[in-house]
Amino acid sequence: MQARFVLLPGDGIGPEVTAEARKVLTAVATLHRHEFSFEEKPMGGIAIDEFGDPLPASTVVACRAADAVILGAVGGPKWDDPTAKTRPEAGLLAIRQELGLFANLRPVKPNRHLIEASPLRPELVEGTDILFVRELTGGIYFGPSGVSDDGRSAFSTMVYSVGEVERIVRIAAEAARSRKGHLTSVDKANVLEVSRLWRRVAAKVMEEEYPDVHYEVVLVDAMAMHLIARPRDFDVVVTGNMFGDILTDEASMLPGSLGLLPSASLGDPGPGLYEPIHGSAPDIAGRGIANPLATILASAMALRHSLGLEAEALSVEAAVDSALNDGLRTVDIAAGAKGVSTVAMGDAVVARIN
Ligand code: IPM
Ligand code: MN
Repeated sequence: MQARFVLLPGDGIGPEVTAEARKVLTAVATLHRHEFSFEEKPMGGIAIDEFGDPLPASTVVACRAADAVILGAVGGPKWDDPTAKTRPEAGLLAIRQELGLFANLRPVKPNRHLIEASPLRPELVEGTDILFVRELTGGIYFGPSGVSDDGRSAFSTMVYSVGEVERIVRIAAEAARSRKGHLTSVDKANVLEVSRLWRRVAAKVMEEEYPDVHYEVVLVDAMAMHLIARPRDFDVVVTGNMFGDILTDEASMLPGSLGLLPSASLGDPGPGLYEPIHGSAPDIAGRGIANPLATILASAMALRHSLGLEAEALSVEAAVDSALNDGLRTVDIAAGAKGVSTVAMGDAVVARIN
């Protein structure tokens, strides 16, 4: 098949890790006789430097025309000035909005070869396999906000509509159906009106459309606790934008390294956006030591969710698993040892795909 990828390498280690993902996708294309094209576009801090805008219009146009977008990372100390007009992160929020990427899938499945890297006891983490479905274009991130004239108060508002809750719950329920058939919805309905609407709408969708899926609700503060006390008890977890942001950072510690976790942001219609969960890691940028596996696994998600190439996606995931099984480690997962380079890790994955 033919597919167009737009790459948004961004800042820090972003260019290094997206280069490895591109290499892996190229290997998949050659092996399976697909025609993949790649176009790189500026986004984030680098786009602020060049165009004064973290998300230039030409980048949005290219993304819209793509089948899938692969993002590295954005941000860094250079653009941290609190008085600046804009920030690299604004580009990320804008592209989610522009492409209508309302569903953010964040799978958390500790790799069995790295279980010792987890800060939690291995017997507690072993067997964990959670898919977080985070609502991404609504809630407090995008509700009305402002600062009073005298600058002495400010507000941000969490707003959800029935339609927004229905569509994200459906995505999560479909995912649960194809997994272990268990969905947990997380809210703060004991306090927030918006959560009471979320809970009511979610319950109705589940009862009317997914009676076969085991459904439960958990308050967000309790969920923060359960996640480290009994992570194995969850299958698919659906929640709003900010709760999802916080809980997925917490969950990212279960596998022990941020360097392994991919994420997919999907809209309907339009291309999906795929990225590692980790940030731009400016402290190690340009040194060739970043872990490319999260971005490589994100490109596997692109093969699966945007191109429907399940077998190819599985082959990339198996290649990553085999590289880890063979002891290849970048420094972040090397437990004090030297570790292989970013490029060497990418090469190892490519070699195992072929
Ligand atoms: C994430 C990030 C972003 C978010 C920031 C960088 C805007 O933390 O993707 O989780 O809060 O959504
Ligand atoms: Mn986050």
